[in-house]
Amino acid sequence: MEHFESPYRPSDFVSSRAVENRAFFHDTIIRAKAHRFFSHPFMTVLDDTTPSPEVVAFILTSFYKIVSPFTGLLCTLGGRAPDLRSRFALMDNIYEEMGRGNLAEAHPSLYLRMLASIGVSARAAEAQRTLPSIRRINDHLHEVVERRTFAVACAVLASAEATIPPSFPVLAKMARKAFPDVDMGFFDRHGPRDEGHSDDAAMLFSVTADSSDYATVETEVRLDLDYRVELFDEWMEAIRAGAPVHVAASDRPPRYISERPPRRPSVRPGGSVSPRR
Ligand SMILES: [Fe+2]
Repeated sequence: MEHFESPYRPSDFVSSRAVENRAFFHDTIIRAKAHRFFSHPFMTVLDDTTPSPEVVAFILTSFYKIVSPFTGLLCTLGGRAPDLRSRFALMDNIYEEMGRGNLAEAHPSLYLRMLASIGVSARAAEAQRTLPSIRRINDHLHEVVERRTFAVACAVLASAEATIPPSFPVLAKMARKAFPDVDMGFFDRHGPRDEGHSDDAAMLFSVTADSSDYATVETEVRLDLDYRVELFDEWMEAIRAGAPVHVAASDRPPRYISERPPRRPSVRPGGSVSPRR
């Protein structure tokens, strides 16, 4: 934890359940690192290709649709934390994402500042059609955060944060090569810091999970990485074509970031089903 004091003490991690959870998650992350995401050609694309500024602008603008709703996802996850300590621990990540109390430094604001420095307005970024892979990534993350247990969502968060250190430097280098005057504020606040966020989410998994979560974690972590590979595939297609990927107008529009999850019936102790209030 970077900004907040850890609400946990060493004694919180010694129960057999916490030890078992920690070992399971360690193995999961090792297995995840063998996923093709981490060896995708996009990771080394700059070794032998120099994408045009138009393609780089397209790639960076498309990624705004991942950056933009992320704070909302984290806040939703915070609302699902089972107790004050787990919520407090998650707030460290949210506080960083929110610019440490400065709206202009909130990560979506930093991202828009970066886009503005390469000539892409906030309006243009919002208007760009969401890539199908990004829609799948976001829909999946929403589903995990809203429908799976808090522990499973923390495991997927830890895995998602672990994708940042290897991939953001590629985006940063691409941006600087194509646009020497690009504002790097967003990229400067990412990298090793996200390893910390990943470790914190893994810590939350170890103190809140139980073995009934394990199979779901394996499935959801793999799905998240599969969808991120699809995004790399779409970007590689743009790089190869030398032009932005065309997203069909018939594709379902992106979900609004303020949209609430659909109402679900809740079951009362007596067994009767009533709508949630
Ligand atoms: Fe961020």
